[in-house]
Amino acid sequence: MADPAAILPAPESSVVTGVGVGTWAWGNQFLWGYDPAQDETLAACFRRAVELGLTFFDTADSYGTGRYGGRSESLLGDFVEALPPDRRQRLTVATKLAPFPWRLGRRGFEGAFEASRRRLRGHLDRVQLHWSTARYAPWQEGPLLEGLADLVAAGRVGSLGVSNLGPRRLRQVHEQLERRGLRLASLQVQLSLLAPESLADQGVAPVCRELGIELLAYSPLALGLLAQPPGEARAERPPGPRGLLFRRLRPRIQPLLQTMERIATSHDAPMAAVAINWCRAHGALPLVGMRRPDQAEAAAAAATWCLEEEERRDLDRVALRCEARMPANPFQSG
Ligand SMILES: NC(=O)c1ccc[n+]([C@@H]2O[C@H](COP(=O)([O-])OP(=O)(O)OC[C@H]3O[C@@H](n4cnc5c(N)ncnc54)[C@H](OP(=O)(O)O)[C@@H]3O)[C@@H](O)[C@H]2O)c1
Repeated sequence: MADPAAILPAPESSVVTGVGVGTWAWGNQFLWGYDPAQDETLAACFRRAVELGLTFFDTADSYGTGRYGGRSESLLGDFVEALPPDRRQRLTVATKLAPFPWRLGRRGFEGAFEASRRRLRGHLDRVQLHWSTARYAPWQEGPLLEGLADLVAAGRVGSLGVSNLGPRRLRQVHEQLERRGLRLASLQVQLSLLAPESLADQGVAPVCRELGIELLAYSPLALGLLAQPPGEARAERPPGPRGLLFRRLRPRIQPLLQTMERIATSHDAPMAAVAINWCRAHGALPLVGMRRPDQAEAAAAAATWCLEEEERRDLDRVALRCEARMPANPFQSG
């Protein structure tokens, strides 16, 4: 990954994506310190995002830890339900179903799908396979995907996406669905200035472009690390495992943060906007994790401007030279 040429130029026709809303933190105590006392703020964050025109919401049936299992979907379902119908109709709510080892066969997702739909109070537009089983149970994935395709074919959900698939597996799934006359709507992968691999010429981005699959960038802020300015004195360290990750990576990404800060300053924008707009400049829809109204405002504001071509190239270069990377998802397939 040391060669800047391995990063593709921005696709001319798809530079202007919007920004999607990620809801992993809604219900997750372990990594994000969730507490039900935050629910009012989460509701305000949701309402502000909708007011500002954000329309894509990403959740998962595995979001929410311990007794808060499924909480992200439940909260999102309640928030969507509270909107006036004309507002509601403009939204795309996408959930991800986890291919746990006990979910087997073509009907293995049936119960999970119904449970998600219930938690989301019927407001479910896209169902996504959360991760690939190719590395540990390759035989599990094909039938599960057939089952998800059955749901789309039967009109029980509008569209189908996948997540954490590599380029080879992505092509196979695309073909599998094409044989049934169905379209793969989106692929969701980790994509940020600290995880740029998907953009390389052997990555998934060119395949998405070729096959007309929307590329969704998850963790575009590297869990918030890329939203903090350079310099140790200015660092905020979140509690728990996120703080440990920040402590390990921050000292090794200072040149990247410095470049980001220079660009942010020249646009009079926050650091987060640069991280978000780098994904957009590469034709991906960033799914920004947010839990406060001001974070929704920052994400929506980022979508009102674009990086200059030269700024994007500077960021590509410094990202490729960066000494540290985000940990890869262990279930990402080839
Ligand atoms: N498919 C998958 O396997 C997968 C995996 C991971 C994530 N995802 C999806 O992608 C979404 C986004 O990823 P993510 O939640 O991992 O992380 P992220 O978007 O990289 O970072 C989110 C965190 O950054 C901080 N932040 C947000 N806006 C900010 C702003 N304007 N200024 C400063 N800090 C800001 C917030 O932390 P504080 O609130 O602590 O400030 C926020 O919780 C998830 O919510 C989920 O929907 C999918």
